[in-house]
Amino acid sequence: MNDLLQTYLNEIENSSVHEAMQYSLLAGGKRIRPKLLYHVLEGYNVSKEIGDPFACAIEMIHTYSLIHDDLPAMDNDDFRRGNLTCHKQFDEATAILAGDGLLTYAFGLCTQSNEDAPKVLQCIYILSKMAGASGMIYGQVLDIEAEGKDDLSFEDVKKIHKYKTGCLLTAPLLIGCILADRNEDYDRWEKIGYQLGLAFQIQDDVMDVTLSPEEFGKSTSDIENNKLSSVSLLGIEKASEMMNQLYDECIEMIKEIQFFNSQAIIQEIEQIRGRKL
Ligand code: IPE
Ligand code: IPE
Ligand code: MG
Ligand code: MG
Ligand code: MG
Repeated sequence: MNDLLQTYLNEIENSSVHEAMQYSLLAGGKRIRPKLLYHVLEGYNVSKEIGDPFACAIEMIHTYSLIHDDLPAMDNDDFRRGNLTCHKQFDEATAILAGDGLLTYAFGLCTQSNEDAPKVLQCIYILSKMAGASGMIYGQVLDIEAEGKDDLSFEDVKKIHKYKTGCLLTAPLLIGCILADRNEDYDRWEKIGYQLGLAFQIQDDVMDVTLSPEEFGKSTSDIENNKLSSVSLLGIEKASEMMNQLYDECIEMIKEIQFFNSQAIIQEIEQIRGRKL
């Protein structure tokens, strides 16, 4: 994955922004979203290489979302992926531009796909919807607006989680489904993706209060930032229970997909559930 990302990055003009894009993108990261895309393709017995431009695009968009999420105007965090955040390593202007650069480049990358144009267009549309102001960005707005509020319900938290995290975890499942020509499974993958996103963000909220920044590889600032989170509403124990139930349901839904070899993606989800960072 890193080699492929590096190859694509090499096409960009040298500048401090290029350096910052490379710094954040290649700094580590679990690469969960690209892996999910590849697992969907392989589960349908389709060559995983056709997913390459989209897998890299999703990881670039995800990395951009993290760079901007860490900025002083948002979560104001100093550590990410075991290193200083982009604006700490460089400066705020460079970090904003590096995020912009990754987001913009990602869409150009998708056009390099050799798949049929209508399929490529559909995938680009999915990415733009899931990343945009009706997707991840919408979730980030809700997240920021909920800071410090004490009259919100778990339904509100679920909505924030769905958009800020669920959308970018659902995109690779949907793109895999489209690239594999399995439109009939689209709605099912969409449901699985949002469920997975909810479980994943609940787990992230739990880890934010149970791990140290060194262990987690990133700042743990939810309490300090007065974030509305699964933990602030449910407590650690209830949130963990719910997380496990959601992962279980996710796995059951995947098993029900016909003509799909679910072994590898289920193993991946179990790894996510058991993750240490
Ligand atoms: C972090 O995502 C942001 C959330 C949605 C909680 P990841 O936990 O996938 O971050 P990396 O890519 O491994 O750094
Ligand atoms: C942010 O959620 C999800 C994004 C859209 C980036 P968090 O703010 O909880 O993510 P971390 O904990 O900083 O990775
Ligand atoms: Mg945030
Ligand atoms: Mg954050
Ligand atoms: Mg978090």
